[in-house]
Amino acid sequence: MTPSTTSMSGMALLLLAALVAPTSAVRHMLQQSPSPAANAPSPAAAGSSTPTLAPSPLSQPYSAQAFAGNGNFSFLQGYTTNITGKPGTLDYSLQLVNASTGSNMSAWHDVPLDLTVAADGSVTFNTLVEIPTGEQAKYETMSSKRGNPIKQDELDIKDANGNVTGQAPRYYKYGPSRGNYGGLPQTWSNSNISDAVTGFPGDNDPLDVLDISSTRAPIGGVYRVKLLGALGMIDSNESDWKVIVINAADPLAATYNDISNVPQERLTSILEFYANYKQAEKKPATCFWPVAAPNVTATSGTAAAAAAAASNATSGNATQAAPACSLSSAAVGKPADYYHDRDATLQVIRRHQQDYEWLLAGNCGSKACKDLWWPAKKSE
Ligand SMILES: *[C@@H]1O[C@H](CO)[C@@H](O)[C@H](O)[C@H]1NC(C)=O
Ligand SMILES: *[C@@H]1O[C@H](CO)[C@@H](O)[C@H](O)[C@H]1NC(C)=O
Ligand SMILES: *[C@@H]1O[C@H](CO)[C@@H](O)[C@H](O)[C@H]1NC(C)=O
Ligand SMILES: *[C@@H]1O[C@H](CO)[C@@H](O)[C@H](O)[C@H]1NC(C)=O
Ligand SMILES: *[C@@H]1O[C@H](CO)[C@@H](O)[C@H](O)[C@H]1NC(C)=O
Ligand SMILES: *[C@@H]1O[C@H](CO)[C@@H](O)[C@H](O)[C@H]1NC(C)=O
Ligand SMILES: *[C@@H]1O[C@H](CO)[C@@H](O)[C@H](O)[C@H]1NC(C)=O
Ligand SMILES: *[C@@H]1O[C@H](CO)[C@@H](O)[C@H](O)[C@H]1NC(C)=O
Ligand SMILES: *[C@@H]1O[C@H](CO)[C@@H](O)[C@H](O)[C@H]1NC(C)=O
Ligand SMILES: *[C@@H]1O[C@H](CO)[C@@H](O)[C@H](O)[C@H]1NC(C)=O
Repeated sequence: MTPSTTSMSGMALLLLAALVAPTSAVRHMLQQSPSPAANAPSPAAAGSSTPTLAPSPLSQPYSAQAFAGNGNFSFLQGYTTNITGKPGTLDYSLQLVNASTGSNMSAWHDVPLDLTVAADGSVTFNTLVEIPTGEQAKYETMSSKRGNPIKQDELDIKDANGNVTGQAPRYYKYGPSRGNYGGLPQTWSNSNISDAVTGFPGDNDPLDVLDISSTRAPIGGVYRVKLLGALGMIDSNESDWKVIVINAADPLAATYNDISNVPQERLTSILEFYANYKQAEKKPATCFWPVAAPNVTATSGTAAAAAAAASNATSGNATQAAPACSLSSAAVGKPADYYHDRDATLQVIRRHQQDYEWLLAGNCGSKACKDLWWPAKKSE
């Protein structure tokens, strides 16, 4: 081993220690020193298109505790997170824990959404972060696992014959997340009913959310956000709304009341990501329900019925088909065509709350949702 590799591995070890061991010193360092968080767009630069973030090959072991008392967030009080396993491996697991009882808490079922509509129409609620701004590792809440821990999504490894030989952790191939990404607690997207706007059935998951604020949030962070709008995304014939919010404690939250207040370049950057990221992973292209397109009322709840009805639903602008798939850069450059506004999105959220109540009441008969229902009942 040459002296130069020794010092290199010394540095690598330090870095590795920072990545895997969330000691209080490391947490302190992560908050104080330039880290990927420091590269997140500053409030002044929030309008510029893509934040210049170095791809992070491993997750940062942020913990909610490390952020406690951080005035950049209005965190849910009374919980901590328990991280086991190394980031970047399939063993990594982040479990929410009730701080007073020490019992596991489900990130999906035991966190209140606490949706509030103010007199001026502004909408706030709690959101859960799975993938911080700038992160490429695809962390997800395990919806059918007891306690619903957050883990890295698995990808099949295949040999030359296409036989599955193992599993690897999944990363976004297209690039780092363009905001703090996660889900809305106590919501669910029913895969056996047609979405009231797109007609496509849901994806059997909680509603997805993207916080566009300037501060990078911790994995497992639960904090108040302000509703701005949504993209009516359709992924493999399933409705997969992407709700767009801003951290309620962000200085810009005071002036952002609707998606129309967000700079066009920022909206284009986010739309460009969602229009391309699945294809980058060799999956079918995503589609988007244009704002001008009429609602589709496909009643049978199947993808085939929705696809047939959708072919009828040319948007208000007759040149624009619904759903709009494989968006061109020209289309991505006109974000106002695709972002549904705050009030339309509030209706989307309310329907997903109703779907969740329906699931929780034990109404689901198919295996797909039974797997989701029992952890809700047994999360402690
Ligand atoms: C923790 O558990 C206690 C007792 O059940 C409950 O009152 C409290 O709301 C829980 N905390 C959280 C953050 O859920
Ligand atoms: C964290 O999880 C591990 C593994 O389940 C467990 O042994 C440990 O007691 C937990 N710690 C806390 C503080 O809950
Ligand atoms: C709490 O969560 C951890 C990690 O998800 C899990 O290993 C453990 O079994 C859970 N404890 C209980 C009592 O469910
Ligand atoms: C792998 O795939 C080939 C071709 O499909 C098949 O003939 C073979 O049995 C598979 N091998 C294993 C170990 O499953
Ligand atoms: C309900 O949705 C699941 C997918 O989540 C699907 O496998 C099942 O066939 C659907 N059932 C009906 C009756 O459409
Ligand atoms: C919180 O905001 C302050 C100034 O607004 C900033 O200096 C600090 O780095 C932020 N903390 C984090 C963790 O982003
Ligand atoms: C589409 O459906 C939503 C939800 O039912 C409703 O709020 C909205 O007014 C409808 N829009 C049109 C153009 O029918
Ligand atoms: C969507 O459904 C239609 C009709 O069933 C089918 O032709 C098409 O291949 C599906 N697309 C994807 C990406 O699954
Ligand atoms: C398509 O539109 C035609 C004419 O309005 C209507 O008769 C037909 O039922 C529609 N098909 C679907 C699948 O919605
Ligand atoms: C319809 O498309 C044309 C050409 O792309 C565009 O100039 C116009 O703004 C669009 N109208 C609406 C209502 O979207």
